[in-house]
Amino acid sequence: MEIIAPTTEQLIQEFELKIASDTKIEARDWMPDAYRENLIRQISQHAHSEVIGMQPEGNWITRAPSLRSKKILLAKIQDEGGHGLYLYSAAETLGMSREEFIALLHAGKAKYASVFNYPALNWADMGAIGWLVDGAAITNQVSLQRTSYGPYARAMVRICKEESFHQRQGYEIMWRMMEGTEDQRTMAQDALNRWWWPALMMFGPHDSDSTHSSLALKWKIKRESNDQLREKFIQKTIPQAELIGLNIPDPALKLQPDGTYLHGEINWEEFWAVVGGNGPCNQQRLDHHIKAHADGKWVRETAYAASLKH
Ligand code: 3HC
Repeated sequence: MEIIAPTTEQLIQEFELKIASDTKIEARDWMPDAYRENLIRQISQHAHSEVIGMQPEGNWITRAPSLRSKKILLAKIQDEGGHGLYLYSAAETLGMSREEFIALLHAGKAKYASVFNYPALNWADMGAIGWLVDGAAITNQVSLQRTSYGPYARAMVRICKEESFHQRQGYEIMWRMMEGTEDQRTMAQDALNRWWWPALMMFGPHDSDSTHSSLALKWKIKRESNDQLREKFIQKTIPQAELIGLNIPDPALKLQPDGTYLHGEINWEEFWAVVGGNGPCNQQRLDHHIKAHADGKWVRETAYAASLKH
């Protein structure tokens, strides 16, 4: 009996029925090229962000103020490396290799989160990064647990469990410093002043300026928009700052009768400059990644050779 291949229209119809019914799209399923391409771009750049995000914190492992804080920071950074591996694995199910993703990154043809292009100047930055950067990442990643692509959604479930610890340990550092000396309180406030706006930039441009959001929302790659997630993060983080005596560095901040806050606007010129490669640490981060990747070549080759023996 002759098996008649489904037409492209039938394939699109079946795909859209799955999206509409919240049936996860799996690696072996047919999917529109634009869906696949958007996922390859977003997941691989998410993975790059996890790995490059290890750099600002890695600088402070040997300078941690206690054995306890060093152990916590080591565990957190190790988690981030694991998140990168989960996400590269999820991205590889879409038909590109990790080597290809890394080559695009090294050639400046792939992005990673702009927030990691700012310097971590002192220990208070470890608190601000954990509290704000991981806090923003959680807001984004909890939403991504419902993304329509199965491997990405499942990676998010595991990552979110670990991300919550990251945010808590950062907030604890800020809390302890705010209960410390005047100098420590000043350091904590200075770190908040430097990391608040770059953390808000993690959610991307305004929806109206977003290249990919309309398709990403239509096909449920994104379940909430850039601005919706940013707003969610802002409204829940401001009370956390106030609880420990920190002031959000936004002169337009205003508590409204309904308990939400009016707030100021991101400096979009700075955002696009850093996204475009002109942030304080862009070249340093990329050079470090290129060198570390080259230095680790023998490890990858040895592990691969060993895997062929079993
Ligand atoms: N930094 C760098 N580039 C950014 C950016 C940012 N903060 N926000 C947006 N961009 C880029 C996009 O990549 C896109 O460029 P491209 O076409 O070359 O990829 C362009 O700006 C337009 O933005 P869009 O809104 O159209 O792009 P997206 O639809 O991809 O939305 C996003 C951006 C919200 C970041 C989305 O990609 C996303 O949700 N990604 C997954 C989460 C993620 O990557 N988080 C990064 C941090 S991971 C982390 O913090 C680890 C934690 O453990 C510390």
